[in-house]
Amino acid sequence: MKGLILSGGKGTRLYPLTYTRAKQLIPVANEPVLFRVIRAIRDAGITEIGVVTGDTGTEIEDAVGDGGSWGVNVTFIPQDNPAGLAHAVKISEDFIGNDRFVMFLGDNVIQGGISSLIEQFAHSQWDSQIVLTQVPDPQHFGVAELDDDGDIKRLIEKPKNPPSNLALVGIYMFDSSIFEAVKNIKPSDRGELEITDAIQWLLTNGHTVHPYIHTGWWIDTGKPLDMLSANDHVLDEMVHEVSEVADVDSASEVGRRVTLQPGARIINSTIRGPSIIGDNTVIENAYVGPYTSVYHDCVLKNCEIEHSIMLEKSQISGVSMRVVDSMIGRNAIVGHTTRLPKAIKMNLGDYSNFWMP
Ligand code: DAU
Repeated sequence: MKGLILSGGKGTRLYPLTYTRAKQLIPVANEPVLFRVIRAIRDAGITEIGVVTGDTGTEIEDAVGDGGSWGVNVTFIPQDNPAGLAHAVKISEDFIGNDRFVMFLGDNVIQGGISSLIEQFAHSQWDSQIVLTQVPDPQHFGVAELDDDGDIKRLIEKPKNPPSNLALVGIYMFDSSIFEAVKNIKPSDRGELEITDAIQWLLTNGHTVHPYIHTGWWIDTGKPLDMLSANDHVLDEMVHEVSEVADVDSASEVGRRVTLQPGARIINSTIRGPSIIGDNTVIENAYVGPYTSVYHDCVLKNCEIEHSIMLEKSQISGVSMRVVDSMIGRNAIVGHTTRLPKAIKMNLGDYSNFWMP
């Protein structure tokens, strides 16, 4: 089998972070979401992986390289515009050939990996297998309606009146019949070739599509709050470790479920787990509360932070109020000034958010 990861698209719902960065490269527990997807596919025994890229293609290619870091071969498949998930499949036909394949959306994070799913599909006669899970807001996803026997009756993309609460998770398995399907569908109202419509075409035309119901957690990291909940889940489940070359002084208190990456320095501070502190990040006279990921080369001084994600080279210093539920972009600075007037001073990028208590 082969793997196909979709890493194009625009990521508008994660503005401003995604103005300057591919959304799939935003880290969750200090590992870009895309890298987690590559690992999940590799762990399922697949070594030939195609990555569909869009405007942020160069950045993705630089970050992923040839796949050697994961022991896989990566082929990049540029998509000239984000014309839909089924369009991404269409342009990948040469790469996939006649192989069966798993398609994984590069912004999805799922509990428990995909090894058993892949094995099940590889040994089946099904033309496709899809993954469904119950969600509270099905209108934001592809939705499946099942019949009394648990077979798929109908699939519909982002319906206004969802026929069920079963959403399509961004993991799909196909054989080459999907290429016929993607050539036979028309763009949806939002102007995209929808993979949901292509799978519906398979059903209508007598192909077998097996629904697998996932009961663990799954997050489409499309919005900032989704990123934070993916971060919560991964921090909760990961095995934490303190690098031998991290430094904690005797005045600091570091909890049990804390990962300190190489070169992290903790000075007179308290770190509560689950949390992770990145390479060469310095934390001084600070409190880092549970469910916080601070990425590489950050500085936290005289401040408190909790349930947040900080991207590389960002800094918080001298802020008396605790920072919570926040995402802080690369090289961003949250600071303190003694200069009058005593007022809030901002230098916010387009589409930034700032909340006062
Ligand atoms: O996350 C699950 C949902 O993903 C499914 O329930 C929906 O049925 C499916 O349509 C999809 O919906 P989204 O609106 O969330 O898809 P999004 O535009 O966020 O794209 C998903 C990934 O695919 C993302 O990593 C970007 C990439 N992509 C997207 C498009 C439209 C491409 O590589 N090329 C594209 O043309």
